[in-house]
Amino acid sequence: MDVLLIGAGGREHALAWKLAQSPDLGRLYAAPGNPGIAEHAELVGLDPADQQAVVRFCKDRAIGLVVVGPEVPLVAGLADRLEAEAVPVFGPSAAAARLEGSKAFTKDLCRANGIPTARYHRFTDAASARALIEREGAPIVVKADGLAAGKGVTVAQTAQEALQAIDACFEGAGEGVEIVVEACLEGEEASVFCLCDGERALLLGTAQDHKRAFDRDRGPNTGGMGAYSPAHILDARMTERVMREIVRPTMDAMRAAGTPFKGILYAGIMLTETGPQLIEYNVRFGDPECQVLMPRLKSDLLPMLLAAAKGDVSAVAPEWTDDAALTVVMAAKGYPGAYATGTLIALPQVEPGAMIFQAGTRREGEALTAHGGRVLNVTATGRTVKDAAQRAYRLVEKVDWADGFWRSDIGHRAIMREQD
Ligand code: AMP
Ligand code: GLY
Repeated sequence: MDVLLIGAGGREHALAWKLAQSPDLGRLYAAPGNPGIAEHAELVGLDPADQQAVVRFCKDRAIGLVVVGPEVPLVAGLADRLEAEAVPVFGPSAAAARLEGSKAFTKDLCRANGIPTARYHRFTDAASARALIEREGAPIVVKADGLAAGKGVTVAQTAQEALQAIDACFEGAGEGVEIVVEACLEGEEASVFCLCDGERALLLGTAQDHKRAFDRDRGPNTGGMGAYSPAHILDARMTERVMREIVRPTMDAMRAAGTPFKGILYAGIMLTETGPQLIEYNVRFGDPECQVLMPRLKSDLLPMLLAAAKGDVSAVAPEWTDDAALTVVMAAKGYPGAYATGTLIALPQVEPGAMIFQAGTRREGEALTAHGGRVLNVTATGRTVKDAAQRAYRLVEKVDWADGFWRSDIGHRAIMREQD
């Protein structure tokens, strides 16, 4: 079967790497892809926003499955368009992608279905939101409603900070802006990934991301500076609670509303004193969490994605290694602020059990250069998170890229627990 993979990041490189191992795979195409993905796929100059062009390509090449990596094309309705043209697609409809595309939608769904999440209010004007802050004080969380590439959230430690975040959301904005203000949850965060077919949600695995730019969780928020899997704080009992109290009621509510959810449901969970609470949903694999899930998957990914796309995952029983996987993001100095592009990278030889997934790279003649904030995902497996970290960091040291920086403490919480 020929497959079209949509996306250009480290997540898509990991998906391409895994799909390429499938005996069922014919040709793999990627749009737009990157130089790492090009090792496994033929890159095609298709703009995923041009839905008509994507449909035409799929028809011309008799594509058997489209795998959509990022959220933006899903929220824009690419899956609906492909389904309408009878092209099998892995990823939710635009209506189901609202679970990520609209925080207000998801909060209302939680409230209506008794799904544990932080108390919240929705606002369409700054004055009412400000009045709530005056009443409730801080800490408090302010979220812009739409997709914001991880930048729409302010966890305000002071009322002043919350008021500023509210003003920033409404400033210069026209009609139709909405924000959610919610209580600040306390605990440790981890993520749960499920393969969904509209009716059923099959647990794939857990991971923990590191969102702050610098060691010891300092500095600005980023798209993620590293991750590891599994996240041991989400043990079997806790994961079952997440499935029972959060994921399954969501699947049921979406189906009852006539907008069944197909694809990857990625639940961001806060483990609070009273139990797991939903922080947010994403409607696709995490980046860089996908880069630590794929190396742990022993089964063939392609039939799993196809089963979800076709609406029945009941026969899917993926096998996973007991090993841990860990990825270190190498980012361009300055990220998540301004950074230089076009700087030279030389990649080392990679031993079995390690992978360098490319996220923001470009090939210029013979040279590999950096063209993005998050540029490389240096990944390794190991018996423990500590083993995986040691291997990943040894490989990081061998990457020759003067303009890169990385966190040196990815996996620190898990490594500390392993030592207990
Ligand atoms: P989100 O874009 O919703 O994932 O939010 C980004 C980050 O903000 C999350 O990963 C959390 O670290 C933090 N966050 C979001 N909502 C809350 C909350 N209600 N309480 C505490 N932290 C939160
Ligand atoms: N690593 C966070 C995300 O993919 O949204």
